[in-house]
Amino acid sequence: MERVGVVGAGNMGESVVRALLKNDVPKKDICFIEAKKERAGYIVKEYGVDEVRKMTALAKRSDVIVLAVKPQDAAKVLPEITACLTSSHILVSIMAGITISRIMSLAGKPLRVVRMMPNLAIKVNEGVIGMAASPDVSPAEFSSLRSLFSRAGLIVDVDEAHMDAITSLGASSPAFFLLFLEAMIDAGVHIGLPRDKAKAISIQVVKGVIEMLEREQIHPAVMREMITSPGGTTISGLASLEANAFKGSIIEAVEKAARRAKELSS
Ligand SMILES: NC(=O)c1ccc[n+]([C@@H]2O[C@H](COP(=O)([O-])OP(=O)(O)OC[C@H]3O[C@@H](n4cnc5c(N)ncnc54)[C@H](OP(=O)(O)O)[C@@H]3O)[C@@H](O)[C@H]2O)c1
Repeated sequence: MERVGVVGAGNMGESVVRALLKNDVPKKDICFIEAKKERAGYIVKEYGVDEVRKMTALAKRSDVIVLAVKPQDAAKVLPEITACLTSSHILVSIMAGITISRIMSLAGKPLRVVRMMPNLAIKVNEGVIGMAASPDVSPAEFSSLRSLFSRAGLIVDVDEAHMDAITSLGASSPAFFLLFLEAMIDAGVHIGLPRDKAKAISIQVVKGVIEMLEREQIHPAVMREMITSPGGTTISGLASLEANAFKGSIIEAVEKAARRAKELSS
């Protein structure tokens, strides 16, 4: 089993630590480095994993290093990490939009890199994780990395060229969906329901839809047609959504997020 060092224990770094623990990586094989003292204290207290203060110490205690800082910090952090890495280390980057070749160029030398794009739901083991590796990561190493995170959600092997798409559809779109859910709750209030009831109903609707799609193994459009009777209530609402370019708005949002991920890498 690999030893893992996490650089940056913010939202995603914490989710990575949690996912590793859920995948039975022993606490003693996980360490992290975090700039914020209070945040580091919280991670130690909550998860019982070791904090290290220096990148050299992190590298010594790890086979795999997960880089979970903001993309804006990549240029500063990468040379520092690279100076401590040996040829046996694998660097796993979860930074949005930073390509493997950009990582190598910021690092100043070839590294063995895996790009991983998780979404926040790895926190509850229902995440989506896109993974792509540089050519010198062997299939056995890649598969062992996959198994480190396999209980955190759905792992999708992708060509690196599709990583921006995974960033958008997997990592950003939960926010789009949450906005939709928020709108449903407000809509419930608008038509007279108490807010707590509107919230409970909206969340249960989503749970029910997902459960049915999974159990029946049907396409969403098929399920939608099942509840859209001629001249009924549902088609009235659907017509209004389409008049407001609902589908087009979602497609555009996903496309814009993917484009932004591409911009971040340059
Ligand atoms: N949020 C998502 O859903 C999502 C999904 C997929 C991927 N990502 C990617 O995940 C990465 C992390 O995002 P996040 O939301 O977790 O960011 P975050 O909450 O800002 O966490 C990053 C942490 O790393 C610390 N840090 C920065 N430089 C450091 C260094 N040299 N050594 C140690 N710690 C350092 C930061 O401290 P300071 O703030 O003091 O610098 C911060 O506490 C980003 O690259 C993002 O693109 C996010």
